[in-house]
Amino acid sequence: MISKKPVITIDGTSGTGKGVVGQLVATQLGWNLLDSGALYRVLALAAQQHGMALDNEAALKVLAEYLDVQFIATSVSTPPRILLEGQDVTDTIRTEKMGNAASKVGTFPAVRVALLSRQRAFRESPGLVTDGRDMGTVVFPDADVKLFLTASLEERARRRCNQLKEKGINVNLSELVEELRERDKRDQERAVAPLRPADDAIIIDTDTLSIEEVVASVMREVRKVFPAIQAVSG
Ligand code: C5P
Repeated sequence: MISKKPVITIDGTSGTGKGVVGQLVATQLGWNLLDSGALYRVLALAAQQHGMALDNEAALKVLAEYLDVQFIATSVSTPPRILLEGQDVTDTIRTEKMGNAASKVGTFPAVRVALLSRQRAFRESPGLVTDGRDMGTVVFPDADVKLFLTASLEERARRRCNQLKEKGINVNLSELVEELRERDKRDQERAVAPLRPADDAIIIDTDTLSIEEVVASVMREVRKVFPAIQAVSG
């Protein structure tokens, strides 16, 4: 049965393009978007700014509960600006360093529980598209469409390297491979909500696909569940 506030979950490892795909699918459908990784990144940044150790679970839990974060929509086709305690941190949280710090704070069960209701609050009409690691397994287990994106480690590192080069940042490809390998391992081996596809997730291997092709595959799966759905743009 289709729920009243439908949800599409897009999970997967770093560098599979799930963030961009989620953004494009949400734009096409005119639905709300939750980039759950951004919450973990903002929490890690807040911890750093408040001089908190990234292994202090009790303090991180309290910080997660009271986290003053806002997602400010700018236009339907661009990602929202993200404010932490009123400061724009949209670009600051996107570094590899913050991704790694996010992955560290995300290992703590109390932190994950503290962020649950905050994530579920994004489930609003007409629907939600969300991307992360445990959206289909833990946060929205009753989602209507669950996708899991994969790509080889080398391909993901290559994509990330190109993205950074476009921003004028030069990085070492083999260092990037090692960082991604370490982050994947931590995400897959953590005790709570480890990264894995939900039993009812559709797996899309993105290695040889462009972003547009991945979006088209996702939209095909969405139409199977919602045959009458109309794209509002794209
Ligand atoms: O997706 P993104 O790269 O922004 O996520 C950063 C980190 O946040 C991930 O490596 C993961 O450890 C953590 N995360 C998580 N659960 C989510 C989303 C992200 O643990 N739902």
